[in-house]
Amino acid sequence: MSAFDIERVRAQFPMLSGREGARKLVFLDSAATSLKPRVVIDAEADFYARDYGTVRRGIYGLSQAATARYEGVREKARSFLNAREVNEIVFTRGTTEAINLVANSFGRSVLKSGDEVLVTAMEHHANIVSWQLVCKAVGATLSVLPIDDSGQLVLAELDRLLSPRVKVVALAHMSNVLGTVNPVAEVARRAHAAGAVVLVDGAQSAAHMPVDVQELGCDFFVCSSHKMCGPSGVGILYGRHEVLEAMPPWQGGGDMIVTVGFDETTFEAPPYRFEAGTPPIAQVIGFGAALDFLDGIGREHLAAHEHGLTDYATGRLHEVPGLRVFGSAPGKGGIIAFVIDGMAPYDIGTLLDEQGIAVRVGHHCAQPLMKRLGVASTVRASFGVYSTRADIDALVEGLHKVRGILS
Ligand code: ALA
Repeated sequence: MSAFDIERVRAQFPMLSGREGARKLVFLDSAATSLKPRVVIDAEADFYARDYGTVRRGIYGLSQAATARYEGVREKARSFLNAREVNEIVFTRGTTEAINLVANSFGRSVLKSGDEVLVTAMEHHANIVSWQLVCKAVGATLSVLPIDDSGQLVLAELDRLLSPRVKVVALAHMSNVLGTVNPVAEVARRAHAAGAVVLVDGAQSAAHMPVDVQELGCDFFVCSSHKMCGPSGVGILYGRHEVLEAMPPWQGGGDMIVTVGFDETTFEAPPYRFEAGTPPIAQVIGFGAALDFLDGIGREHLAAHEHGLTDYATGRLHEVPGLRVFGSAPGKGGIIAFVIDGMAPYDIGTLLDEQGIAVRVGHHCAQPLMKRLGVASTVRASFGVYSTRADIDALVEGLHKVRGILS
């Protein structure tokens, strides 16, 4: 596919072609999870039906072939993120597990009493709680880089907060509420100058814009297949070689060892040191098809498409009386959180669902951010590769109906 052809894209998503007896789906929850194209569904199903075998454990042909395909996806992931080396790619269950891996392996071995982990005011709970647990265990503390009223990081505060006690800076690439795309390369440069390593939560960015971990200059980058048109249950931890190499294992089990004795065990090099047990084989193979699918469209086309939708949606949503959007950073991604005066987000979401429109309502796993915004919850519409202006028109029309019912 050379140029972005939205109708050709949409035709590849069975969920959008209408299920028997069901209303046409207006899916505006891609920040929570993405729909799957036929190539991904078929890659996983065909693997189970025709080619199934375990990986890295079998002498027989099916296992060897499965191992080659599994490792082939690792190379696709390397290329997708432009990592230098394929052994910098660790498969995890998803973004959350990848952050927990880094917090428990790197964090527990490096953080000491009195140290700090710097997060931002817009983080998802996964990038707060994982660090908080480790901080509590070792006597370290969390510090927080604030945001301004447009939903951007207050970079003027960064150098003051980057004291020599800060060993880790953990931040979202794109906020799952505000849509803000953070200046990660700039933060990484300053964090490194202060002696800290940098973890980037790419859950919201990886499928929506080009990502180059070398350009970002981060030490860790994490993302989830299920938000990238791929299967659930798998994700990526990218770790810079020298950093991963020095990290201890965090889970013990099969295939992450070289030798095991009752007295002593020696461990594999990364990435295998961090992949204990039989991995999600079929999901990784489906994920490979998703990476090919996104690359086939081109993430620059995709980003342009979603920016166009975001601008259009921002304009149209303001036609709805009493509607207030959170986050107005320039270049924000396709995520729009909003409230409507006098109406509970939960009621709005329920009444939209009755019209076949799927949005997320709640705190979006970002309670500290909700507190900063002065609300308990919001409605959130978020876009994906298959989203259209017609989806946004349906949302706006739906919101007018909701106002008619609730006001
Ligand atoms: N982190 C996902 C969201 O924001 C689940 O909806």
